[in-house]
Amino acid sequence: MNVIDQNFVQGFIRMCSDGYRQGWHERNGGNLSYRIRPEEITDIQDQLNEHGVWFPIGAEVPSLKDEFFLVTGSGKYFRNVELDPENNLAIIKIDETGKNYQIQWGLAGGGKPTSELPSHLMNHAVKKACTKGLYRVVYHAHTTNVIALTFILPLNDEVFTRELWEMATECPVVFPDGVGVVSWMVPGGAKIAAKTADLMRNYDAAIWAHHGMFATGETFDSTFGLMHTIEKAAEILIKVLSVRSDKRQTIEPGQFRQLAKEFHVELPERFLFDKVECKS
Ligand code: 13P
Ligand code: ZN
Repeated sequence: MNVIDQNFVQGFIRMCSDGYRQGWHERNGGNLSYRIRPEEITDIQDQLNEHGVWFPIGAEVPSLKDEFFLVTGSGKYFRNVELDPENNLAIIKIDETGKNYQIQWGLAGGGKPTSELPSHLMNHAVKKACTKGLYRVVYHAHTTNVIALTFILPLNDEVFTRELWEMATECPVVFPDGVGVVSWMVPGGAKIAAKTADLMRNYDAAIWAHHGMFATGETFDSTFGLMHTIEKAAEILIKVLSVRSDKRQTIEPGQFRQLAKEFHVELPERFLFDKVECKS
């Protein structure tokens, strides 16, 4: 079967289109990667080119040696992926050192994988290790309301997590571990990749101040759903803050603890701090 007709490729394309329609991918904003299963590679082996040039990743990911990834191309627009997957996506292979990659399919008109490849691969490396290989998707989007919040809230994991949790009862159930926050850094390199991957040891999502967000997960659905849930919570918070600077009422720490019990999730106490707030 043709590469484009494979289930994982179709799921990947759908996620690009869904993200674009959410307004998270202006121009070439955002990128997506999927760690391909060995049996999925077997099905398309005859269409892969094993003789291409090897390029440096710009990071070291020895635990991903010999793995294959489907990734978006650098400078490519999410809105074009469904129209022309072969020119906007690539299947890459990591070499045995974990330092280089080779394009084996796609980017037919030329080009390179996303400039955020170091962040994607380092996140994959962390998640592969701490989920026993379960997680396969890493997604970066320019989520409008989350970005707006990074101009307003203190840039720390506790405040962001707590404020987002308060915005919808289901939030702590969807991301009980919370979200990490990376202060402003230059994107596209090994430094921001290392910082983000470090946060991914504890979280499934990390916010990049004044830039966007990374989400990781087992499937396209769960990863897209996580991005969507966090961005929606941020949208509610922006709406609340646009009307008044304080909340008349909210979900309180004791109520989060009740929720945790009923929904069988563990909510770390460091997010359930007491707030000193003036209510009018
Ligand atoms: P790429 O086009 O290289 O994927 O970059 C987009 C982006 O969002 C950078 O952070
Ligand atoms: Zn970006």
